[in-house]
Amino acid sequence: MSTLATRPSLASANTPVTKADLDWQSLSFGYTKTDYNVRYTFREGQWDRGVLTSDEYLPLHMACTCLHYGQECFEGLKAFENRRGEVVAFRPFENARRMVVSCRKILMQPPPEEMFIEAMERVVTANLRFVPPYGTGASLYIRPFVIGLGPQVGVKPAADYMFITFVSPVGPYFKTGFAPIDLIVEEAVDRAAPLGVGDVKVGGNYAAGMRASVNAKKKGFADALFLDAKHKRYVDESGPANFFAITRDGQYVTPASDSILPSITNKSIITLAEEMGLRPTRRPVDVEELADMTEAGCCGTAAIISPVGSITYRDRKFVYSKDGRPGPICTELYQRLRAIQLGDAPDKYGWMYLIHPKA
Ligand code: PLP
Ligand code: COI
Repeated sequence: MSTLATRPSLASANTPVTKADLDWQSLSFGYTKTDYNVRYTFREGQWDRGVLTSDEYLPLHMACTCLHYGQECFEGLKAFENRRGEVVAFRPFENARRMVVSCRKILMQPPPEEMFIEAMERVVTANLRFVPPYGTGASLYIRPFVIGLGPQVGVKPAADYMFITFVSPVGPYFKTGFAPIDLIVEEAVDRAAPLGVGDVKVGGNYAAGMRASVNAKKKGFADALFLDAKHKRYVDESGPANFFAITRDGQYVTPASDSILPSITNKSIITLAEEMGLRPTRRPVDVEELADMTEAGCCGTAAIISPVGSITYRDRKFVYSKDGRPGPICTELYQRLRAIQLGDAPDKYGWMYLIHPKA
């Protein structure tokens, strides 16, 4: 645990936690109602102290900027019950910082990092019974988001904001779990422009990419893979996750691009890939290079590491898994990452943040 991880918990360690009556192993990546969410409001130039509420609905003015002009951003991170029975979150300060960048880019009031961490602690602690037990493979997904409030008809930033964090116990993002997925390169849709907002986590990016993803699914693929919007030549990322591939000489490569989200999972995997001697590199990845890769994967909080079995590009199909099994490098990276998150391996990089000690 890092020094940062030793802040005192908001809940008593002596309170036994009776878990919710859920079929943890069959959870998919979806919304499950929990007991509380937490909301902070920025009004007249300052944030309030926030309230925990069990209300799942928001009181919104019909003319607020989040509804009309897309002043919204969000984060996604996970909490786990680890081998020791503690509730821990994965690299929450990274998400807190990224949320500040997202807010600034679309001219919203950013929640201070300490508020982000406090919100996470309050909401997870209030919903401890929804933290999936160690060994189930499920986790507690944490979804902080910021919206512009207040009536505004002209295009300009809101004066008031709300920062909300809710949680939901989740299973795997792709229904195959840790089994290879098939992707299709969608050239007909641009997710994000080079000087746009593809590098921050704003809702509009997901709306822009949705038709590619839905089309891909209709054709039997797990998701779409986007190319850069300017050259239509370099791999960007998939709808919900970054992309990486392994070269024939065993190198981990992941796209460098101005229009992809800087993934915290990818950053962490790069550290693990370094440990494994994979010489990780961020550089533009020409779509033609995909023909020569030995393995490929998607990575993100929700996707964890999802090995890619094949990529369809125009009339070609690049196959990375012939037998339906993940490749050895994806498997090793996945195991190393999960072992740290679940306390099965030492947290040598100080990635895990203690939210609640063993009950
Ligand atoms: N790219 C996009 C578009 C995403 O939505 C996500 C998910 O957050 C990622 C990449 C992965 O980022 P992270 O690993 O920080 O969850
Ligand atoms: C995440 O991995 O946290 C995401 O936000 C991806 C997706 C669910 C939008």
